Amino acid sequence: MMNIIHAKQLVTLAGPPRARRGKEMRDLRIIDDGAISIEGGKVAWAGKTDDLPDRQAESFDASGKVLLPGFVDSHTHAVFVRPRADEFEWRIEGTPYMEILARGGGILNSVRTVRECTTLSVRFADRFLEHGTTTIEAKSGYGLNREHELRMLEAMQLEHTLEVIPTYLGAHALPAEFNDNRDVFINQVLDDLEAVRARNLAEFCDVFVEPGAFTVDEGRRIFTKAKSLGMHIKMHADEFKSSDGASLAAEVGAVSADHLGAVTDEGITRLANSEVVATLLPSTLFMLGETRYAPARKMIERGAAVALATDFNPGTSPTVNMQFVMTLACSQMRMTPAEAICASTINGAAAVRRADRLGSIEPGKQADFAVYDVGDYREIPYYAAVNFCIATFKRGVLIYAKDRGMRPEFQ
Ligand code: NIG
Ligand code: FE
Repeated sequence: MMNIIHAKQLVTLAGPPRARRGKEMRDLRIIDDGAISIEGGKVAWAGKTDDLPDRQAESFDASGKVLLPGFVDSHTHAVFVRPRADEFEWRIEGTPYMEILARGGGILNSVRTVRECTTLSVRFADRFLEHGTTTIEAKSGYGLNREHELRMLEAMQLEHTLEVIPTYLGAHALPAEFNDNRDVFINQVLDDLEAVRARNLAEFCDVFVEPGAFTVDEGRRIFTKAKSLGMHIKMHADEFKSSDGASLAAEVGAVSADHLGAVTDEGITRLANSEVVATLLPSTLFMLGETRYAPARKMIERGAAVALATDFNPGTSPTVNMQFVMTLACSQMRMTPAEAICASTINGAAAVRRADRLGSIEPGKQADFAVYDVGDYREIPYYAAVNFCIATFKRGVLIYAKDRGMRPEFQ
C-alpha cells in the first residue's frame, strides 16, 4: 500500500474504458490537490488529498506537480539495430524518403542490420520510461522473413519494466528479391502469420499500405487471414499519398489506422463512423520536413477517436518523447493541450485494446502514471521539447526518479 499525495493537478481521465471522441477529448477530470492510493499494483482510490482513506501508508509527496496517466505510445518500431543518421542527411540534401527505400535503403537498410545482428532488443526502453511512457506497442517489420520476424517479436517479450505490446508487420517493405513476384512474398507473409500465431508472439497484424509499399488489395488479403487467426488489425494508412487506406481500415474493422497525413475527406468520414482509432504521428512528418500534417481538427470535429504516438523508428521518427509529440499536435494540428493528453493516454490505450486497464487514473486501473515538474498540465506541451517527467510509476512501483535514476540502481 502506498499513497501519492498533494498533486497540484491529478489529471485522471476518469470515464468510460474506451476511446474518447469529439468534445469528450477535452474532459480530463482533473482533481486539484489530488491523491492516489495504490494496492497490488492497481489504483485503489483517487480523490482529494484531504479525503484520503488511509493516511498511515508510505507516501510520495507530489506537491506543486502535475500527475498524468502513463503515456501509451501505441505505434513504435522500437526493435532495430542501427541509427540511420546518414539517411537523415541525404533527405536534408534532397532525396525523398520513399526514393531512398526504392533504392534499397530506408526500411531495407534496417532489415540488413537486423538480419546480421545476433541479439535484438527493444531500444531505448529506459528512455521511454524517463519521458513518462509506461507502455508501448512495437512492430516487427525489419526481418521480412519468417526467421527474423520471429526473432524481432521474441525480443519484445524480453522487455519487462516497460510494457511492450507486439505487432507483426511482415509486410513493411518488399525485399528486392521479390520485386518481380510480389505474390510469392504476400503468400509467405500469409504463411508466416500462422507461425506468429502458433507461438502467440503478436496480438496485432499491421501492413504498410502505401503507394511504393503495399496495395489496398494486398493489405486486405493479409488482414483477412490475420482476422481468421484471431488477430487484431492495425494499419499504416495514407501516410504520404492516399490509397484510401482509411476506408480499408474501416472495412476490416481495424483497431487503429495510423499516420493519415494524406487521408481523404471520405476517409475521415469512414473513420468517424467506425470504431477505428485514428492514430496521428506528427513527429514523423516533422522529421521528414513536411509542412502538411494530418487534419486532426476535422477528425475530432467529425467525431473520430484520435490518438497520438511517436512512431519511434530509426528512419522517420527518432524520438521517444510523447511530450514533444503533444507539442507538435498542438502547434501544427491545432489540437488543444487537453485533447493531446487524452490522445496520448486513454485513446492510446484504446488503440492497443487496453482501455479497460490502462490510460486513466481511477480505481481498478493499473497504477501506471508519471509526475511532471510543472504546475499546470498545459505547460507540458507548451514548453517545447523539454522533458518535465521527474518520476514514473509502473504497476504502482516507482521505477524511475530523476534524482535517483532508473531502477534497480536505487532500489
Ligand atoms: O511509420 N512507414 C513505414 N514505417 C515507418 C518507417 C520505418 C523506417 O523508415 O524504418 C513509419 O514511418
Ligand atoms: Fe510506423
